[in-house]
Amino acid sequence: MSRKFYFGSNTKMSKTDSETVTFLQELVQATAHLQGKEDLQLFIIPSFTVLNRANAILEGTGIRLGAQNLSYAERGQFTGEVSPLSLLENGVSIAEIGHSERRHVLGETDEDARRKVENALSHGMTALLCIGETGEEKAMGLSAEVLRTQLKVGLSSVTKEQLDRVWVAYEPVWAIGTQGTPAAPDYVEKMHGVIKQCLVDLFGCDGGEIPVLYGGSVNPANHAELAALRNVDGLFVGRSAWFAQGYASLAENSWKIKSQIC
Ligand code: PGA
Repeated sequence: MSRKFYFGSNTKMSKTDSETVTFLQELVQATAHLQGKEDLQLFIIPSFTVLNRANAILEGTGIRLGAQNLSYAERGQFTGEVSPLSLLENGVSIAEIGHSERRHVLGETDEDARRKVENALSHGMTALLCIGETGEEKAMGLSAEVLRTQLKVGLSSVTKEQLDRVWVAYEPVWAIGTQGTPAAPDYVEKMHGVIKQCLVDLFGCDGGEIPVLYGGSVNPANHAELAALRNVDGLFVGRSAWFAQGYASLAENSWKIKSQIC
């Protein structure tokens, strides 16, 4: 069997709950032929408030449900935060941590990410740690250092036993969203190589098994080239996957391309 390919989308704050429900109902139909494949893991990460309904829609499909954030604490005096216990009750199995917008718009630090990774993993969830350099850091030649720092701090509490529940998404800040510039595939391959080497340095051979997904302006024109890269284990897509057919066709094409290579 070929290596597992990961494909998912974080819908950010782009849809209301009722819009998400419609999207997910369509998504379940559009991806019916892709569900249950051993070498393809689909996932979707909608807003907190719709998780319960999303869980009911996704039940039995194999599409995993994620949350866009979680508290670093389990319970207590943390107004406005969401506990992993609540996420688990809503069928969430993936906690997205340290997305570029959490870091650069909402001020989260590497230490915040570390605590959240620790909390997600200790509650049995998969931690999807997002990392990426800013345009300024790239221009100064700091990309590799920034990625290594984000990994070393963010994953510093992870134990060997938890490693199979760690995913990493490389999302260069300058490549994300409507203002983003799509990254060149050779640059993506190089940075994924830096990330994979760092994961091996941190965790030994097992670190090399951690899936490293790419995200940032993935679209119909560039997904094939990105999916074909040796060091890319999956795609994490925003805008181009926010409608069911877009999600389904990007997922199917990129998975097929990967399975022909591996
Ligand atoms: P985008 O978003 O595909 O719309 O650039 C990617 C992301 O932020 O995960």
